[in-house]
Amino acid sequence: MADTKTLTLSVIKADVGSYTGHNRVHPDLMAKARECLHEAVTRGTLIDGQVMRCGDDINLIMTHRRGVEATEIHKLAWDTFMACTAVAKKLHLYGAGQDLLVDAFAGNVKGMGPGVAEMEFVERPSEPVVVFMADKCAPGAWNLPLYRIFADPFCNAGLVIDPKMHEGFDFVVLDLVKAASITLSCPAELYDLLMFIGAVNRYAIKQVRRHIDGEPAAVASTQKLAHIAGKYVGKDDPVMFVRAQAGLPGVGEVMEAFAFPHLVEGWNRGSHHGPLMPCRFEMANPTRFDGPPRVVAAGYQIADGKLIGPVDLFDDPAYDGARAKANEIAEYMRRHGPFQPHRLPLEDMEYTTMPAIMGRLKDRFRAE
Ligand code: 13P
Ligand code: 13P
Ligand code: MG
Ligand code: MG
Repeated sequence: MADTKTLTLSVIKADVGSYTGHNRVHPDLMAKARECLHEAVTRGTLIDGQVMRCGDDINLIMTHRRGVEATEIHKLAWDTFMACTAVAKKLHLYGAGQDLLVDAFAGNVKGMGPGVAEMEFVERPSEPVVVFMADKCAPGAWNLPLYRIFADPFCNAGLVIDPKMHEGFDFVVLDLVKAASITLSCPAELYDLLMFIGAVNRYAIKQVRRHIDGEPAAVASTQKLAHIAGKYVGKDDPVMFVRAQAGLPGVGEVMEAFAFPHLVEGWNRGSHHGPLMPCRFEMANPTRFDGPPRVVAAGYQIADGKLIGPVDLFDDPAYDGARAKANEIAEYMRRHGPFQPHRLPLEDMEYTTMPAIMGRLKDRFRAE
C-alpha cells in the first residue's frame, strides 16, 4: 500500500437504469449508492466517497490509498452498481443494469462496462480538483477542452506566465481501435497532437502530465473502450478530472474551456452530434431528443483525502451564454433530421438498421 501522503482519486461511473427513459437517475438509486459508499468509508476501504449524477449516469467519486486499479475499490464500485441495478429493476426503470456488460465481477471493472478515471498523486497542502461528468456523450468529448486547458494559451494564461507550466504538458493519447497509446509533448509536438485528437471518434486523450516533472494533471475515462477494442459496443458517457492551481491551470482556466459548447457524439440513440451544454447539477436532465449532451462540473478541495465540496462550478451566469449558444446549435443541428453531420457516419452509429436494409436491398443495386 502507498504511503500516507499518496492519495488515489477514483471516479467510476455507470448507467444502471433511469427514468423517464434515459432522462435521469432515480433518487432511490442515488440513496442506495450513497449507502454503499458510506459503509465503505465506515469499514475503512475508502477515506471518502460521494455520489453524483449527470443525466442517467451515476458517478462514484472516491478517495483511498489503495492505488489505481485496486481490486477492492473496483469491486466496491461493481457491487454498488449491482445494488443500484436491483433497485432499478424493482422500479422497472429503463435500461436497468445497461452498463454492466458481464454477470460476474472479475477483479477489475475495466472492460466490464463502467467508466473509470483514476489517478494516484501526492496531495498538495491545498488540492483543488474539478470532476467533469457528461451524459449523451462519447470519450473523445474531452479532447477539445483538455487541449484548450493544457495547450492553448488563449484559454490557459498560465502556459505563458506561470514558470511551472511554461514548459507545457505531455498528453497520453489512446487509439480506441488499436488499444495502443502514444505520449506527445506540447508545445513541441502540438501539431502532431492535433492531427490525432481532432479525430475524436478514433483517438482520446487519456492522461495529461506536467512536462517539467511528470506531475499528473488530468485523467479521463477511456479504459472501457480500450479494453473492448475490436468489438466496439458504443458510446460511453465519459468522466474526467483535473487538478488545479499552484503550477497547474487555475480553476478559472480549467472552466474557461467549457465556455464554448463544442459538438460531441452521443446525442439520441448515441447516434447524433450535438453541442455539449454546461449545466448546473440540477439542470443535467437531457430531455429534448434525449439531449442535448450535458456536462456538469463538481469542484473539490481535498483535505487529507476528504472531499470538501462539491461546488457546482457551472452555477454561474457566465455560462448562460454557452447554454444559450448550445440551444441555438441544438436547434440548427436538429433541423438536419436524419442527415449527417447531425446523424453520425454509418460506422459510428450506436443503433443502425443498415445491415437489415442492405440485406434486403443488396440485390437491387445495379453496376453504374
Ligand atoms: P496560483 O498559481 O496560486 O494557483 O494562482 C493562479 C490563479 O489563481 C490563476 O487564476
Ligand atoms: P445513455 O447512453 O445516456 O443511456 O443514452 C442512450 C440514448 O442514446 C438515448 O437516446
Ligand atoms: Mg441510459
Ligand atoms: Mg447516459
